[in-house]
Amino acid sequence: MYDIGVAITGTGFMGPAHTEALRRLGIRVVGILGSSPEKSKRFAETHGIPKAYSTFDEILNDDEVGAVHITTPNRWHFDTTQAALLAGKHVMCEKPLTMNSRESAELVKLAKSVQLAAGVNYNYRFYPTSIEARARAPMLGEVVSVFGNYVQDWLLYPTDYNWRVLASEGGRLRALADIGTHWMDLVQTITGQRIRAVFADLRTIFPVRHRPKGEVETFSAKRVQHANTEAIDIETEDQGAVLIRFENGAQGVLWVSQLTAGRKNNLRYEIAGKQDSIWFDGERPNELWLGHRNKPNEQLFKDPGLMDPRAQRYIDYPGGHNEGYPDSFKMCFRSFYDYIAAGDYSATPFFPTFAEGHHEILLCEAILRSHDEKRWVTVDDQSFDGMTE
Ligand SMILES: NC(=O)c1ccc[n+]([C@@H]2O[C@H](COP(=O)([O-])OP(=O)(O)OC[C@H]3O[C@@H](n4cnc5c(N)ncnc54)[C@H](O)[C@@H]3O)[C@@H](O)[C@H]2O)c1
Repeated sequence: MYDIGVAITGTGFMGPAHTEALRRLGIRVVGILGSSPEKSKRFAETHGIPKAYSTFDEILNDDEVGAVHITTPNRWHFDTTQAALLAGKHVMCEKPLTMNSRESAELVKLAKSVQLAAGVNYNYRFYPTSIEARARAPMLGEVVSVFGNYVQDWLLYPTDYNWRVLASEGGRLRALADIGTHWMDLVQTITGQRIRAVFADLRTIFPVRHRPKGEVETFSAKRVQHANTEAIDIETEDQGAVLIRFENGAQGVLWVSQLTAGRKNNLRYEIAGKQDSIWFDGERPNELWLGHRNKPNEQLFKDPGLMDPRAQRYIDYPGGHNEGYPDSFKMCFRSFYDYIAAGDYSATPFFPTFAEGHHEILLCEAILRSHDEKRWVTVDDQSFDGMTE
């Protein structure tokens, strides 16, 4: 069904995740670019990918490549995404879309001006339970509150290091941008309500971390002991709280931390409307808790036969057969390549768009400004449409 070749940049945590998800959809991964020709070659050999590129220009000039997946650290996203779109390639970029809103606004404009698909991988939207929650949101009544968290423990010790802790590689906002934006994207998608104002309190628990000499890939700290390290100053936050106002006046609270022992990758939300509520715990992604006032609460287990028709396209296994994190990539990409196959680039995509990725960058900047200035900060609507610079 999908007659397209894909090139991937980045060979760390996300490179294999994208490769696997694309292949499960029957999409050809034609080439890979790592941070050096040796890394490209090694990844190509390990994963059976025909081409190992040495430069990004080789991807741009490769006629076999119809789409590029960007899975490099954040600071590379803008240049490569821009170049790929200008070369006529569709782009699926990892989150966050760019390092700042000037860049993301530029990409929104560019994506509008070319007849191409442009998506950001906010994959949590594609859990079947996320789509179900989105379908059920209108039945909650007017949404009045949203609270939750996204917590992990992989940066718990000052000896834990990854490029994300450096503002120059990932942006000055770290935990909130890296994982908090997943939560914000998800609850906004489910409720249909945009976040319009934030009040943030952030904290860097370790102002100095110990960086191993040499490259360190994501989540590798627990597996690899590094003998040679150097002390580096850290200006990105380890954790933070954000008070939120949604466009309809609903209130929200978000807690984010990369230092919560035992929590490996824990995204939870509770959305309360004037009638009912929904609770989701990302450690049990096949379940949704539905809260009622006047009848017993319900527990919905993922089952295509019991779920909204919109979720059907994004469920491949029957009830009782769990679908999880890798499936959310597959389903996000299914939505992306369905869109390309349909060929109508004026249609509204179901996958996360560059405009939505830009909105997340604006939220990141508002969170940082709020923390620095100790006040509520409003997110600019006009910028959300990508019209201002
Ligand atoms: N959607 C999700 O659930 C999710 C999860 C993790 C990471 N991410 C995002 O994916 C991106 C990558 O994160 P990661 O965890 O895979 O990081 P990682 O450090 O594990 O991998 C990054 C890879 O990029 C390579 N690289 C660096 N510079 C490069 C360049 N110029 N050209 C080609 N390759 C280069 C590195 O060698 C490394 O292999 C980030 O933007 C991150 O925010 C998304």
